[in-house]
Amino acid sequence: MSLEIRILPDYDAVSAMAATELETMLAQKPDAVIGFATGETPRGMYRELVRRQPNCRQMRTFNLDEYLGLPPDHPGSYARYMHEALFDHINVQPEHVHLMRGDASDPSAECKAYEQAIADAGGIDLQVLGIGRNGHIGFNEPGDEWTEGVHIVTLAESTRIANAPAFGGNPDDVPAQAMTLGIRNIVQARRIVLLATGATKADILAQALTGPVTPHVPASILQEHPSVLILADAAAGQHLGGNAGHGR
Ligand code: GLP
Repeated sequence: MSLEIRILPDYDAVSAMAATELETMLAQKPDAVIGFATGETPRGMYRELVRRQPNCRQMRTFNLDEYLGLPPDHPGSYARYMHEALFDHINVQPEHVHLMRGDASDPSAECKAYEQAIADAGGIDLQVLGIGRNGHIGFNEPGDEWTEGVHIVTLAESTRIANAPAFGGNPDDVPAQAMTLGIRNIVQARRIVLLATGATKADILAQALTGPVTPHVPASILQEHPSVLILADAAAGQHLGGNAGHGR
């Protein structure tokens, strides 16, 4: 097992190192399959990639999750987020970009097709993750069991509150359901880089990385993965000082 924790001075340092992780992967494997995450945390990483312009011509991408019911051009959709933050500004080929259709007429079939597409691509080489304030990864909310493949979830009320700013501030306007890669899909990625920044993530990050491995803290599963890099800023990593920089 290898869980490496790096505590960096600030958000920009986390963003820069995350961008370097992706560049390193693409240097080793130009057609690498990258799992991308959304949320506020990875925005700086994407800005940095746009600035550096690594060659993404052969890169293939799969996003982690999408709100159910939203068309790709909806301002709150993760499809739109990804285009605006990254895909429209790098030389990734549109046919290599995979995003779930939030407005699919048959969401279960959409989940199955997405699962198959990941398998057909040979699995994910590098998965980028954020962490929800309740420990969720993707939209795998805390629960009694680990989730498996791509599936539909009902969002926790706390998640709708946390994500309300992207929907004009009202949690009721955040879709109640979403599609997400399951925990099994995520841990099947060959390498995972999780970004956590800001003091609101400090407690949950410490719980996830040093507490028991339990589906009640979905990110805790990363403790059992063979190749994880945690990039935290000083605020998010404030309870992890003793572990900083050490593999385990
Ligand atoms: C969302 C996303 C997650 C993301 C998390 C944290 O709910 N589905 O993939 O990691 O929230 O978001 P943020 O980075 O904005 O704190």
